[in-house]
Amino acid sequence: MNYEVKNKQLLAWVKEVAEMCQPDQIHWCDGSEQEYDSLCELLVKGGTFQKLNPEKRPNSYLAWSDPGDVARVEDRTFICSIAKQDAGPTNNWVHPKEMKKTLTGLFTGCMKGRTMYVIPFSMGPLGSNIAKIGVEISDSPYVAVNMKIMTRMGKKVVDILGENGEFVPCLHSVGAPLAPGQKDVSWPCNKEKYIVHFPEERSIWSFGSGYGGNALLGKKCLALRIASKIAKDEGWLAEHMLILGIETPEGEKTYLGAAFPSACGKTNLSMLVPPDHFAKSGYKISTVGDDIAWIKPGPDGQLYAINPEAGFFGVAPGTSFKSNPNAMHSCAKNTIFTNVALTPDGDVWWEGMTDELPAKLTDWQGNEWTPGCGRNAAHPNSRFTSPASQCPSIDPAWEDPKGVPMKAFVFGGRRNNVIPLVYQSFNWSYGVYLAATMGSETTAAAVGAIGNVRRDPFAMLPFTGYHVADYFNHWLQVGRTTPNPPRIFSVNWFRKDANGKFLWPGFGENMRILKWIADRANGRGASVESPLGWMPRYEDIDWTGLNNVSRDQYQELMSIDRDVWKEEILSHEELFVKMYDRLPKEFLHIREMILSGLWRSPEHWEQYNPASAEGFND
Ligand code: OXD
Ligand code: MN
Repeated sequence: MNYEVKNKQLLAWVKEVAEMCQPDQIHWCDGSEQEYDSLCELLVKGGTFQKLNPEKRPNSYLAWSDPGDVARVEDRTFICSIAKQDAGPTNNWVHPKEMKKTLTGLFTGCMKGRTMYVIPFSMGPLGSNIAKIGVEISDSPYVAVNMKIMTRMGKKVVDILGENGEFVPCLHSVGAPLAPGQKDVSWPCNKEKYIVHFPEERSIWSFGSGYGGNALLGKKCLALRIASKIAKDEGWLAEHMLILGIETPEGEKTYLGAAFPSACGKTNLSMLVPPDHFAKSGYKISTVGDDIAWIKPGPDGQLYAINPEAGFFGVAPGTSFKSNPNAMHSCAKNTIFTNVALTPDGDVWWEGMTDELPAKLTDWQGNEWTPGCGRNAAHPNSRFTSPASQCPSIDPAWEDPKGVPMKAFVFGGRRNNVIPLVYQSFNWSYGVYLAATMGSETTAAAVGAIGNVRRDPFAMLPFTGYHVADYFNHWLQVGRTTPNPPRIFSVNWFRKDANGKFLWPGFGENMRILKWIADRANGRGASVESPLGWMPRYEDIDWTGLNNVSRDQYQELMSIDRDVWKEEILSHEELFVKMYDRLPKEFLHIREMILSGLWRSPEHWEQYNPASAEGFND
């Protein structure tokens, strides 16, 4: 051990795990730069990393994974609560005793021939009363170096733990022991995968995968699945949300949290660059976090949020100097890339990075790639791991231990029809209903078919560590006990016209919608009442500098098709019947309210028109 560890529980756990996993060596990570460099060097020697051209990407590396280990494996992810009904209908469940037996079998001897890394980390600023400490034991040096970027990691965390401090034990193995003399592969993993959470014990066991969401256990496993359960027990929220700040020319700062399913643009929205007209008049967007928010009641009756992470694990494809310059600057150096393509001069490339395609590349599987070869150069779920501190738009308060005050929550899926561009819920309970019934087309961030609509309540479907109806009730309870809760909004950037063309330009232009949201959250901003909620009229949005959204197009973006919405509501029921015994009673009334709005007389219905100046036709 290269530093003193006083925590008896930690020492005992490390000993117990070492006896089970039988590694060749144990390395306690100190979190230093020297350690990072030497682990990266080790990864280069072992063939997992290629060092990128330091002139193009200083201090950066590229890893290509096993082709079968590229995304989160939701069907292999388990919530092993003692009672099956506490995991609920949206989680896989096995009795903890049975699961421990299976896992103990798999973990016994699984680190033979490897080094076991002990990785102490803090989710949240060191020593903050909102932060939580975890310790990951892993046989993957790739995990250790990624955890150094994604969390506050190393000796300083052990110092904070002291003799008796509590931590969440997170055990990880790639599940690929090495026999003496056996040559290692560049991306060891196992066909059999288990991502397992024990919510009552507050522990995590992950076997067989080296992919970020399955292996960097501070992120989805601790900061969402386990933290959501702790949050429920303690009266706070752990959410799949970005956090951003909007500053007006007068210096008024409004923070909001926005939940979108994986690979739906959270990173882009959190780093939005305002269009020229807004920037010149003094509007600014700042980034607190791009994926996870821990939100707690403050002494003044507002909710306060921290970003528990210290880095971005962003989706690379589609990221460019046009779509997200702040992300491009964030990953300009000190970055680990996974499953992107390699350029002949030792830099990286992915689909959407440049308008012009490179003449030649090596693709993410190590094969030669040329434009028109019919294959992706980068995997659709390829990632960059970059320090958040490198983001030019990072908010000055991003590490403030007390968090930032939240004024609005925004929920959005990827829906090519049905859902209007934006509306504000009538009240908190109604907002909880809209978030609970959110749907989205599936993306490459999880293994499985892409493009089907699935219900993804609060964008937390794969991340809620307990019964989803209890989670809805918890949200309702937070509203009841918070004197000044954030206002709740729905957005849909992805609506298409009849020819399949996006109706909304998105990216920086989303600023126009964020401005309306911030105005509403601060008690300003006009709107009309629609059957779904409050909606901005055409004149309530600042269109300066954007000429290609006509009133007609706006009407299409904001339209609510009565027949389509009847179908939509029926499909809410498909989710609800799975949890009828615990479903909040409010939901039934809210559904009735929406239906009664939709069933207003056709004349009344046709009069409603947010594109007209009055919001209604005469
Ligand atoms: C992520 C995800 O990696 O949601 O953030 O899959
Ligand atoms: Mn995510």
